[in-house]
Amino acid sequence: MKFFIDTANIDQIKEAHDLGILDGVTTNPSLMAKEGIKGEEAIANHYKTICELVDGDISAEVLSTSFEEMVEEGKVLAAIHPNIVVKVPMIKDGIKAIKWFTDNGIKTNCTLVFSAGQAILAAKAGATYVSPFLGRIDDSGWDGVQLIEEIAHIYNVQGFKTEILAASIRNGNHITRCAAAGADVCTCPLDSIL
Ligand code: E4P
Repeated sequence: MKFFIDTANIDQIKEAHDLGILDGVTTNPSLMAKEGIKGEEAIANHYKTICELVDGDISAEVLSTSFEEMVEEGKVLAAIHPNIVVKVPMIKDGIKAIKWFTDNGIKTNCTLVFSAGQAILAAKAGATYVSPFLGRIDDSGWDGVQLIEEIAHIYNVQGFKTEILAASIRNGNHITRCAAAGADVCTCPLDSIL
């Protein structure tokens, strides 16, 4: 299982990278805002800095929600660095956008996934990664890790190539259970690793 760090904080990325076990980074608009990164140029520069620090897939999320805008925004993000993975929300236009990126050789991370049906749609569109949101599923009274098990089973039976990226991780117990459940990647806040 690969380890990604779920932050836009450069010090935390450096700390995780120094451990020698970091395979990539995920960010989202709230994580970028938390670091005070605003505006197209500042966002692009921040992603460039992260890509220069970590040699692995770096997820950069689109802010728009229509197919046309997501494609335009994703093209700009993908042009920042070859390791950028365009993170696209699991909505109807998001599926269309993921298919467009797949057909045009751009890697994607389908985010905000809460069901196995959504994970099937993401895989059919050719997403590089699918991100089920464990912690938020737990918050609503269900068991997020069970969803990882279900998706892993379906992808295995169907031979889907999309990698399962367990997101919204809250603690070490999530990480070990995701490893047992068949997640390909866990994206973790630094304090859940150490
Ligand atoms: C990662 O890609 C997600 O954006 C992140 O894990 C979401 O976590 P949260 O539920 O703590 O916001």
